[in-house]
Amino acid sequence: MFKPEKFVEEQIEEMRAKIKGRAIIACSGGVDSTVAAVLVSRAIGDQLLTVYVNNGFMRKGETEAVGKMFDSLGINYRLIDASDEFFDALKGVTDPETKRKIIGEKFIRVFERTAKEYGAEYLVQGTIAPDWIESGDGVRDVIKSHHNVGGLPKDFNMTLVEPMRDLYKDEVRKVARYLNVEVAERQPFPGPALAIRVLGEPTREAVNIVREACAIVEEEIEKAAKEGKMALPWQYFAVLLPCQSVGVQGDNRAYGRTIAVRSVESIDGMSASYSKIPHEVLEHISVRITNEMKSDVNRVVYDITHKPPATVEWE
Ligand code: XMP
Repeated sequence: MFKPEKFVEEQIEEMRAKIKGRAIIACSGGVDSTVAAVLVSRAIGDQLLTVYVNNGFMRKGETEAVGKMFDSLGINYRLIDASDEFFDALKGVTDPETKRKIIGEKFIRVFERTAKEYGAEYLVQGTIAPDWIESGDGVRDVIKSHHNVGGLPKDFNMTLVEPMRDLYKDEVRKVARYLNVEVAERQPFPGPALAIRVLGEPTREAVNIVREACAIVEEEIEKAAKEGKMALPWQYFAVLLPCQSVGVQGDNRAYGRTIAVRSVESIDGMSASYSKIPHEVLEHISVRITNEMKSDVNRVVYDITHKPPATVEWE
């Protein structure tokens, strides 16, 4: 049986022994990186700098919420807006693996810059077991290069520290609860963020569309769960597809974009089944997206594929 209190105690000791200088952690505000930041800051205090990089692909209101959370956790942090750099680096890029690699590498470069300024020699990451197992760590085929792993450049020159490398998602959540991290019950969110929820080039315009659609999916599903119409799924979001289709708006022909709604049930993300969301809730989502985003989107579809054979994210 996994015991979070024992894990925390052991890791604090191990981190103190291992980290002999200043350290930096990239924290997206997701459960994995936040738990890692709190763990390591318990071990070494302000020797750890927690860095949040706004890559331009974060969800609606996310950057503001993360800043508030860091304040309440009382950790040493910095918010960096690097969105221009990320959008520039992804100009014309459509291949999912290339996107993931570029985003991972940019992340590391931004940290390296910040780390130099801060005098950090250690890079802490919230990598968990499925990240490296699925990234083909010599054992399995590469399914997707999760950005914690695939983006590491060859000339990377900081010591990597991964306190949660052996944990699965359900164990991370137990540790989060134990540490009173308020993000504990949030759904997982991928490192490359909304950039991999735009199929094709993640332009500012496309990312804005998927950001708005993701917010509607989240709001409607969370509302339905609160009202007892359904249980809260493990993960739920929107994906912008790279195709347009014909529709009708008033008396006119429309030619708009398509949003796919994805919602899955899972324990650790390794396998998943699509959520049996009540049709009434799907209808609310579809009507809201096509009403509120009518100049962009005229079609909404629901993804009914399990993992395997699909993956949770579309890229
Ligand atoms: P997939 O799409 O691989 O997703 O079936 C499984 C779970 O992992 C999340 N995911 C990521 N998490 N970095 C992360 O930290 C990544 O690059 C990444 N890609 C996918 C995904 O949202 C799902 O919860």
